Amino acid sequence: MAKPLSIMYVASEVVPFAKTGGLADVAGAMPQIIRESGHDIRIMMPKYASVSERVFKIHDIKRLTDIPIKVGDETHLGSIKSSFITNLKSKVQVYFLHNPEYFDRPGLYTDPKTLKDYPDNDDRFIFFARSVVQTLNRLGWIPDILHLNDWQSGLIAAYARTIFRNEPQFKKIKIVFTVHNAAYQGIFDKSAFYKTGLPEEYFSPDYLEFNGKLNCLKAGLIFSDAITTVSPTYAKEIQSSPEYGCGLESLFYKLRRKTKAILNGADYSVWNPETDELIAHTYSAADLSPKLENKKELADYFKLKFDPKTPIIGMVSRLVDQKGLDLVVKSLKRILAMKCQLVILGTGEEKYHMLLKEAAKANKKQMGLELAFDEKLAHLIEAGSDMFLMPSKYEPCGLNQFYSLRYGTLPIVRKTGGLADTVVDLNEKPNSGTGFVFEKYEARELVATVKRALTAFKDEKCWQRAMIRAMNKDFSWNKSAAQYIDLYRKLMKK
Ligand code: ADP
Ligand code: GLC
Repeated sequence: MAKPLSIMYVASEVVPFAKTGGLADVAGAMPQIIRESGHDIRIMMPKYASVSERVFKIHDIKRLTDIPIKVGDETHLGSIKSSFITNLKSKVQVYFLHNPEYFDRPGLYTDPKTLKDYPDNDDRFIFFARSVVQTLNRLGWIPDILHLNDWQSGLIAAYARTIFRNEPQFKKIKIVFTVHNAAYQGIFDKSAFYKTGLPEEYFSPDYLEFNGKLNCLKAGLIFSDAITTVSPTYAKEIQSSPEYGCGLESLFYKLRRKTKAILNGADYSVWNPETDELIAHTYSAADLSPKLENKKELADYFKLKFDPKTPIIGMVSRLVDQKGLDLVVKSLKRILAMKCQLVILGTGEEKYHMLLKEAAKANKKQMGLELAFDEKLAHLIEAGSDMFLMPSKYEPCGLNQFYSLRYGTLPIVRKTGGLADTVVDLNEKPNSGTGFVFEKYEARELVATVKRALTAFKDEKCWQRAMIRAMNKDFSWNKSAAQYIDLYRKLMKK
């Protein structure tokens, strides 16, 4: 057998410690599968206020206490704490960067009160990036691979390949950078660049400059040895149009040869209707009947009348433009004019909070709304709904459609990114279809597709067959994790 690999996996959010979206699901699941295959993979993330030391049995690492880290002219202290993820048989070690001033806050990136980004996110993630680099220096463990995710860890690649490149831990290390969302680039005023301490020459359009500002995502793209995207279609989309590349499309195209698409997986140890501890009525493809009990609970939760024959359309989402919220808002009246109930769980932009609140108030009998982040309710919605709505404007991969498929809750999706790669339209392919797909980002198309789904729902036998087909789809992490291992090995040979 080939020699086991060692990998430092860096992410700004990781399940079960902190989560705002799919990155956390990926970062909490994929490393466990890699560890199960015998590799030494460890994770590093910030220790936010919500990460309880008691609940997660987090302990100090004495020799890694009060490490001085420079942000601009100031020196801040970072301490490393540690715990493990132990869902599966083998444990994955997690290093937490502790600095109360930067991370003991109620939100990860945005202030939950104002729904606005923290104004010092540049300082916070410069501090994080430098801390990762300096921790690697002191750990006495030199990994083969440094795997970074999204803009929050982009600067780490820049540090490793510039001012820290002669440090022993970076001489041979290979850097993988995964793009989970090209629309979030970590763009800050030029003054933030000076706070990074990187040499001035790197503030140029060939490096970290983007329209006169600092772009942290670019740092990860340019200074990594390989880029991965989380679905094949998204890789193509970001290379070919500004709509998806968000101003970096030429760069994505230029770097295409070092880019590889690896579709995300679903963590079926968490998202499985047969074993789900967050739902009261577990079920399987062999016995679907308890799903109806979940539907009843869901209807009760939102004070909707329970009727097995009225389909519930569920949605769990960040309430932002990406997720097609403007289409949802525009289509609401026409959707609710049909025989269905709609339940939405989410948080995000204030305008969507307001618009949805108004709609829910006006349609109490047909629409349920919870403006919160609620893990348990997310599981109930997957289990209790008949259909799941994901009309995304763009979707790098999307995880909720995986969960919906596994829960027999047929997804209604727009054909973009990972949604295009994972959901098959039932009308187009009656024998292999698993959901409902539309192409154009238009309210008209969304409404027509919901209508198709509601019509299909009436054919009970056909619907059940589609549910079972969806539930039997396998999007587990094994295949994707093997692709990451393959990529790591190829890089090491270079
Ligand atoms: P994204 O990462 O773009 O938000 P994904 O589909 O990849 O989209 O992942 C979203 C994850 O976050 C899913 O696990 C979903 O259930 C979860 N999620 C999103 N909003 C909420 C919410 N309000 N409450 C609970 N879970 C949520
Ligand atoms: C991002 C994307 C989402 C993807 C997730 C995990 O948040 O928006 O599509 O599934 O990352 O890769």
